[in-house]
Amino acid sequence: MSENWSSDPELRVEHLTMRFGGLTAIGDLSFDAGRKQITALIGPNGAGKTTVFNCITGFYKPTEGMIIHRHPGGREFLLERMDDFRITQHSKVARTFQNIRLFGGMTVLENLMVAQHNVLMRASGYTIGGLLGSGHFKKREAEAIELAKYWLDKTGVVDRADDAAGDLPYGAQRRLEIARAMCTRPRLLCLDEPAAGLNPRESEELNKLLISIRDEHDMAILLIEHDMSVVMGISDHIVVLDYGRKISDGTPNHVKNDPAVIRAYLGVEDEQEEPIAQKLVAEGLKVHEKEGPAPRKPARRTTPAAKKGTRK
Ligand SMILES: Nc1ncnc2c1ncn2[C@@H]1O[C@H](COP(=O)(O)OP(=O)(O)OP(=O)(O)O)[C@@H](O)[C@H]1O
Ligand SMILES: [Mg+2]
Repeated sequence: MSENWSSDPELRVEHLTMRFGGLTAIGDLSFDAGRKQITALIGPNGAGKTTVFNCITGFYKPTEGMIIHRHPGGREFLLERMDDFRITQHSKVARTFQNIRLFGGMTVLENLMVAQHNVLMRASGYTIGGLLGSGHFKKREAEAIELAKYWLDKTGVVDRADDAAGDLPYGAQRRLEIARAMCTRPRLLCLDEPAAGLNPRESEELNKLLISIRDEHDMAILLIEHDMSVVMGISDHIVVLDYGRKISDGTPNHVKNDPAVIRAYLGVEDEQEEPIAQKLVAEGLKVHEKEGPAPRKPARRTTPAAKKGTRK
C-alpha cells in the first residue's frame, strides 16, 4: 500500500491543540490526510477524535495550531481562521455527526434539497423574482434534484424519498446523513462513527459505499470509527489518538501491530502486553478476516495501567 499521504495531502493538521479550561482534549497533534484516500482517526473513548472534527469544521476554534485544506491546483484554506459556514461553502468540507442530526420531520428528499440551499439561493440572486422567474434558478433547481436522486439511489434510500427522515431505520438514517453531506458537493468528507449501531451486513454495505465515494468521486475521507471491520477493511491510512495525543500513524498493518496502540486500547502493563496482544489480534484488530458480528467499542482503561494514567 502506498504511503503517499504526506507528499501532496488534501488536509494538513499542524500542532493542533484544543484546551477546555484545564483539560487538554487535543495536544500538539499533527497528521496528513491524503487525496483520494480514506484516513481513519481512531482511539479509545474520550481520545479527542470528535474534537478534531469540531476544529476542522469550525465548530471549535483551536487553542493553537493550523488546519490547512489544500485544493488541487494549489489553493489553500486555513480552516482555523474561517467561520463554519464558510468552511462548508468555500473550502468544501462536509461532515456527519456521531449522533445523527437529520431534519427528522422533513422528508428524505427535502433533507437533501436543504443541503443544497447555498447553490439555490445564489442562483435566485437572493430575490423573490429570481426564485419565481429565473431560468437560471430553474436549471440549478433541476440539477439539485438530479444530484439528490443520485445520492438517494447510491445510499439505497430512494424508495423512501417521500417518507419522513425520522421514520427511516437507523442504518438508513446513517446513510442518508452521508447522502446529505455529499449533496453539499464536498472535497473532504468527515464521518463521525458512521458504522455505530449498524449490523454486520449494514457495515459491509457502508464499506462499499465509502470505497465508491473515494474511488468514483475522488474524495478524501476522514473517518472516525470504532468498528475495526470497517477501519481495517477500507482505510488507506490510520492515525491513532490517546488522551488527545497521536500515538501511532501509518498503514492498517503498521497500526494494528503497534504496541502503543495495543496498550492504549487495552490499558495493559508491559509484561501483560504479549498475551493480550495475541488475544486482541485474534479477536479484534483482525476482525475483517473473521466472520460474525462487529466488535463493540473499546472501553476506556479499567486496568491498573488505567488507574495510573494521567491526562496531560
Ligand atoms: N465542549 C467541551 N467542553 C469541555 N470538554 C470537552 C468539550 N468537548 C469535548 N470535551 C472533552 O474532550 C475530551 C475529548 O472528547 P471527544 O468527544 O473529542 O472524544 P472522542 O474521541 O470523540 O470520544 P468518543 O469515542 O467517546 O466519541 C473528552 O474528555 C471530552 O469530555
Ligand atoms: Mg466522538
